[in-house]
Parts: sequence; structure tokens; C-alpha cells
Amino acid sequence: MIATHPLQPIHKHQEHLQQEDFETIFGEVPGTLFQKCQELVGRHDLRYDTLQGASRDQVLLRVLKTLGQDLEVAGTHRKQRWEDGWAENFSDFQRTGYDLGALVPKFVRPQEIIRLKGEYVRPVSPHFETSVVQILRCWMFQKWFQAVDHIYEFGCGTGHNLVDAAFLFPGRPLHGLDWSHSSQAILRLLREEHGLNVVGREFNMLEPDESFNLYPRSGVFTVGAMEQLGCQYHAFMNYLLRQRPSICIHVETLYELYDQSILFDYVAAKYLEKRKYLQGLLETLKTFEQEGRLEILATVRTFGSLYHDGYSMVIWKPVEEKN
Ligand SMILES: C[S@@+](CC[C@H](N)C(=O)[O-])C[C@H]1O[C@@H](n2cnc3c(N)ncnc32)[C@H](O)[C@@H]1O
Repeated sequence: MIATHPLQPIHKHQEHLQQEDFETIFGEVPGTLFQKCQELVGRHDLRYDTLQGASRDQVLLRVLKTLGQDLEVAGTHRKQRWEDGWAENFSDFQRTGYDLGALVPKFVRPQEIIRLKGEYVRPVSPHFETSVVQILRCWMFQKWFQAVDHIYEFGCGTGHNLVDAAFLFPGRPLHGLDWSHSSQAILRLLREEHGLNVVGREFNMLEPDESFNLYPRSGVFTVGAMEQLGCQYHAFMNYLLRQRPSICIHVETLYELYDQSILFDYVAAKYLEKRKYLQGLLETLKTFEQEGRLEILATVRTFGSLYHDGYSMVIWKPVEEKN
């Protein structure tokens, strides 16, 4: 008998995400995934190993040790961090001759463990997270933004999500809002160097500028930006309700979706508490729905990086949209 080291990964067998997996995640009928998403599934390396036994324990131990440390919490004091981070992407973008790959945020860590299907998995490709996010974006834009005339991303960072929207909907006006000036500088380059129909604008989601009006028939989305507001998302939600876009998508960690009777979810919820990330959004949306102010169209739990599921989605629309 060959002895294996107790900490060696124990593989069931290597798995890979397939079209059916995405259909299950998105709640789509088998065989109906958008053609463009199918192409992405075919093109990307989506292989991974599910960690079991000692390997899984090792990851959980690492997560628990992190939870035991002092972690930086979200809040206005971090504005400079975002400014510096996006300034780094800005110089990479210039240095590489405006390579769109330079827009991937540095917090997306290649080679890191991923949360998927209730398990910790080790992807084969270092770009697994970015690949899956690309497929999610492809699905959500096609599913929910086909009919809108303008697209707005609040807390857009480098604008890499808007770049995908630009390729899917060539020429459609795109608006990237962020409180960081470096973000707007990158968006200017996207317009000048890549000819994308995108404009950047300064916007603080904590103190929304009520004079900034959305165009009628608009689609609004956020990715990991509400996360940074902790429990202070009410002003922004009220702004959106007053602006009455056609549809809103939040790709965010959704505290209420974690089943805290399961260790895997419990540690994710604790991570959100510890970092003062988004909590309560789903409950607030449900309350607004009961009050007849909006309709929740879907909630989708997808996957996450090591500590939490940052890419869950909630999709809603105001009861009356702006004409
Ligand atoms: C985790 S990053 C996500 C960036 C981008 N959406 C993405 O998917 O890469 C969070 C973003 O939210 C922005 N942000 C945080 N708090 C904000 C606020 N109060 N108002 C506007 N933007 C904010 C940050 O500057 C940063 O660009």
C-alpha cells in the first residue's frame, strides 16, 4: 500500500464547470444557456479539485485563523486605499499600451482557493475567478440589460465590468461612477484609447448626489461596491428608488443567504461581520417589496473567493420605472 502524506490533497477526480453547472446556478432550463456564455465556457479553463479531508481542514484552519486576527474594516477611511489601488491599475494600463487585462483588480488573487458548490476548491488555472466572473457578467447583461438604453455601474473601479458590457452592446452609453478619481482617469483612457462609449463621474454612494439624474430606461448594477457600504446603503437605495431605473442588479456578498448552521457558511458570515461588509440588503429589499415599492426578480447564489461568496446576485426593479 502506498502511504500518502496526511496533508496531501485527496482528489475524488478533477472536475470542471460545464454549461449545465451554469444553467443550474442561474436557474435556466437545461440547454438554454446564452450562446455567448456557452462560448466562454468552452474557451476558459474551468477545471478544479474539490478539497477534502485534511486539505479542506487546512483551508478552514486558515480561514479561522484569519477571523481571529484584526482585519481592516470597510468605511470612508478606506477611500485612499481605493484611490491608490486604482492608480496602480491606471499606470499598469498605460505601461502595457492599454491592455485590458491590466484592469483586473489586484484583490482578485490568482492561485487562491475558491468557494464553489458548498466546497472549497483549488482551481487549475490561476485565472479561474476572472473566468467565472466573465461568464456571470455575460449572463447577467444578456438576461437583464438587453432592453435598457443606458447602463450605469456604481462603484465601478477600473471599469472592467463595463468593458464587457461595451463588447456585448457596442455603442450603448455606459456610465461608470466611483468616488475614486483614478477610476475616472481609467475610464477616460477607455474612451480615448479603445473608443468605448463610456463616461466616468465622481459619485459617493454614502451621500448620493440627488442632482445626478439617470436617463429613462436605464440598467444599474454594482459589483462588490455595496459590500463596502456595510449597513449604510439606505441613502443609496433611496436614491435608486427615486431615480426609478428599469432594472438593478447587485453582484454582492449577501449576508442573509448564508446558512449559519453550516460551518462553511458560518465562517463566511463571520468574515462579513468582522470586516463590516454589507449586511441586511436582502431583508431591506424584501421589506420594500412588501411595501409595494419594488419587485425582486431573482436572487442567485454563485461562488466566491476564499472568505465569502462575493458574487451572489439580487435583481430587482422599482414598481414604476422612469419614462
Ligand atoms: C471591491 S471594489 C469593486 C470595484 C468594481 N465594481 C469591480 O467589480 O472590480 C469596490 C469599489 O467601490 C468603490 N466605493 C467604495 N465605497 C464607495 C462609495 N461610498 N461611493 C462610491 N464608490 C465607492 C471603491 O472605490 C471601489 O471602486
